[in-house]
Amino acid sequence: MKKRTIFLTTALPYANGKFHMGHMLEYIQADIWVRNQRMEGNTVHFVGADDAHGAPIMVSAQKLGITPQEFIKPIAEGRKEYLDGFHIKFDHWHSTNSEENVKLSQEIYFKLKEAGLIYTKVVEQFYDPVKNMFLADRFIKGTCPRCHAEDQYGDSCEKCGAVYSPTELINPFSALSGAKPEIRSSEHYFFKLSDPRCVEFLREWTKGIAPDGTPHIQPQIQAKTEEWLGKDGELSDWDISRDGPYFGIPIPDAPGKFFYVWLDAPIGYLASLLSYCQKRGINFEGLLLSSETEQIHFIGKDIAYFHTLFWPAMLHFAGKPFKTPNHVWCHGFLTVDGAKMSKSRGTGLDPLAYLKIGMDPEWLRYYLGYKFNAKVEDIDFSAKDFIQKVNTDLVGKYVNIASRSAGFILKRFGGKVDAQSIQNCSLIKKLKEISEEIRNFYDTREFNRALRKIMASADKVNEYVDDQKPWVLAKEEGKEAELQKVCSITLEAFRLLTLYLKPVLPVTAAKAEEFLGCGNLDWSTVDNSLNEATVIKPYQHLMSRATEDQLKQLFEMSNPANKAAQSSEAAKKQEGQSDTSSSQATHVDKNIETKSTIGENVETEELVYEPLQPNINIDDFNKIDLRIAKIVDCKKVKKSNKLLQLTVDAGEGRTRNIFSGIAAYYNPEDLIGKLTVIVANLEPRKMMGEFSEGMLLSASDGGGHTTGLYLLEPNQGAIPGMRIH
Ligand code: MSP
Ligand code: ZN
Repeated sequence: MKKRTIFLTTALPYANGKFHMGHMLEYIQADIWVRNQRMEGNTVHFVGADDAHGAPIMVSAQKLGITPQEFIKPIAEGRKEYLDGFHIKFDHWHSTNSEENVKLSQEIYFKLKEAGLIYTKVVEQFYDPVKNMFLADRFIKGTCPRCHAEDQYGDSCEKCGAVYSPTELINPFSALSGAKPEIRSSEHYFFKLSDPRCVEFLREWTKGIAPDGTPHIQPQIQAKTEEWLGKDGELSDWDISRDGPYFGIPIPDAPGKFFYVWLDAPIGYLASLLSYCQKRGINFEGLLLSSETEQIHFIGKDIAYFHTLFWPAMLHFAGKPFKTPNHVWCHGFLTVDGAKMSKSRGTGLDPLAYLKIGMDPEWLRYYLGYKFNAKVEDIDFSAKDFIQKVNTDLVGKYVNIASRSAGFILKRFGGKVDAQSIQNCSLIKKLKEISEEIRNFYDTREFNRALRKIMASADKVNEYVDDQKPWVLAKEEGKEAELQKVCSITLEAFRLLTLYLKPVLPVTAAKAEEFLGCGNLDWSTVDNSLNEATVIKPYQHLMSRATEDQLKQLFEMSNPANKAAQSSEAAKKQEGQSDTSSSQATHVDKNIETKSTIGENVETEELVYEPLQPNINIDDFNKIDLRIAKIVDCKKVKKSNKLLQLTVDAGEGRTRNIFSGIAAYYNPEDLIGKLTVIVANLEPRKMMGEFSEGMLLSASDGGGHTTGLYLLEPNQGAIPGMRIH
C-alpha cells in the first residue's frame, strides 16, 4: 500500500479562555486518528494554533487594561499542560497573531481580489459613541422586535428565536458602555460568495469525492450545505472587513480596516504549517503543491459553515500553491448528563481538574473513543457510565489478561514463552484476522466499532483463561508445559490487544511493550508474535480503577461556585419534578443553548458586561449602609429551590434573618461561619411568611449568571458590624 502524506488540523481555539472538555474531545479524536495513521507508516503533519484575533479578545483585554497581545500570551502558554496531559501530540502549535499569518492572509486576499471576488460596499452599522468603535452584533443588546423580550443580543432573540439585524432592535444599547448606539456608515469589504463561479464551485466541492474515494464532507453536513446553497445559489456575500480599533490583520490597501477574524482564522492553519515547515526544513509550497498531500480538518459542527463554504472557496480562488481540503470532518458536541456544559449548572468539566485529581488521561481517551463514530452526533459524558466503562473494559477485560499470566511465565519459566504453541493456536489466528477490520475502523473514524470489536476479542481471551485455569494448572504436578502454553497464548493475545488499542492508549501500550519486550508495536508487527527470543520482564502495574470519589471531586472542582446546584438538581429529580421552572434555571438554559446550532458561533461562558448605572454623588452612596456580617446559621428553605435562609450577626447584639436567592450556588453548610457584606438599612421585606432584614451582596454578570454567582467576603481583619465606606 502506498504511504500517505497528511496535513492535519483541529479547529483553532479562541485565545480568550482556557480549554474545556469539549476542546479535549476534538483533540483526542484527531490524536487517535493521527496515531493510527502513524502506526500505518503514513506521514502526518499535525498542527494547531490559537485563534487570537477579534473584538471579544480586544474588549476583554481592554477591561483588564492590558494589550490584546498581553492578554493572549498566558493563555497560549497554558495550552501545553492540557495537550501533554492528555497525550495529544501536535507537531506544532502556533498563533493567528503571527507574521506567517499576516503574510498568508494578505497574499490570499490579493489573489481573491485579482480573481475579481472582492468588492466594497457602504454599510450602516451601530457605533458606540462612548467607546468610539463600531459594535459587533454581540455587543449590542435591546428589545426583540418580534416578541418584545428585553435584553436580547443584536443578531437573534433567545426567547422567540427570531433572527434580525441589530438595527431592528427596539431601544438598542451598547453592551460595552450602556450608551445608546448611533447609526454610522462605513465602507466594508466583501467576498463575493454569490458569484456564479463560487456557487458552481461550491456545489461541486460539497458533493465531491476526495482521491481516497470518500466524500469531502459527511452526508449530514452535505445536507446542510445544500440547504445553505439553496436551489438557486442564494448565498449572501461575506463581509470580511472590520473598522479599527480592531485586533486583527490590517487590510493592506485599506488603511484603518482589518480582516474580520474569521477570514484570518482558517488561514492560521496554513500559517502554523508554514512555521512548522520552516522549523523542520520542509518545503511548505512543495508540500501543498504535491498532489499526494492530503489536507484534512477536524472541526465541531458549529463551525461547519465557515469550513465547508468560505474556506474551500477562498482556497480554490486563491489558486496555487493553496489547495482545497480533501476532507472537513465534523464531530458533535460533548454534553454532560445530556445537558450542555455549563459551570453555573454544575455540568462544567475542567480538564486540568481531571488531571490534578490524578485521573488517568487514558480513561477519557478510551471513554470518548468508545463513543466516537464518523457521524455528527453529540457525545454524552456521564459519571456512572464513565466509571463502568473504564473499570469493566480497560481494567476488568484488558489489563486483567496480562496480570493473570505474566507472573507464571516470569517465575516458572524464566520469562520464556512457548513459541510453538502460539503459532499453532486458533484463538491467536482469529485475533489476528480482525486486525484489518480494526485498522479500517480507525481510518474511517469509527473508533466505537474498533473498540467494541477489540473488547469482544478480549472477552474471548478471558473465556480461554477461565477455561484453562492456569492457577489450577500451576498447582498440579506434571502440568508445567500446559501452564506455559496457556500463559504464552494469553500474553500473545495481550500483545495483539495492546497493538489494537495503541492509538487510544499510547502510554499503557508503551508500558506493555516494555514488559513484553516486544519492541515498538505498529500495524506491520501484527505477525511478529512473541517467540523464542522473547524475555518477559516483571509485570508493571498498567492501570487503576476509576472511583466514584474521583468523579465527584471532578465535578466539584470543575464547578466551584456550584456545589449545591447538582445536589439540588438531584433532589428535585427525586421529588419527581423533571422540569426546573425557576427563572434562574431558564436563564441558564437559554444561555447554554447559544452554541448549539450549526453555523452559529457564540462563545459560551464569557462575561456579559452589565451596562453601568448613571452616576451618583457621595451623598447618594452614603445612604446605603453596608456592614460586615457573620453568617451564624444557614439552611435551605422548604418550599423554594432558589432561597437560602440565613441568620447573620451584624455586630448589633442581636441576629438578623435574611433570605437570599443563592441556593443554586452554595451549600448552606459551606457558608456557616463565613464573614460577608450586607445592606443593613434595606427596608425589611416579608418573604415566606417571615421578614428578611437586609440583603447579601454577590457578584454576577449581566447575562443571567452564566458565569456564576459569588458572595462577597472581606479581607482578614474585618469584624461584624464594621461599616463599608
Ligand atoms: N476559533 C474558532 C475556530 C476557528 S477555526 C479556523 C472556534 N473556537 S472555539 O474555541 O470556540 O472552538 C474550538 C473547537 O472546539 C471547535 O471545533 C468547536 O466546535 C469545538 N468545541 C467547542 N465546544 C465544544 C463541545 N462542547 N464539544 C465538542 N467540541 C466543542 O470556534
Ligand atoms: Zn423575541
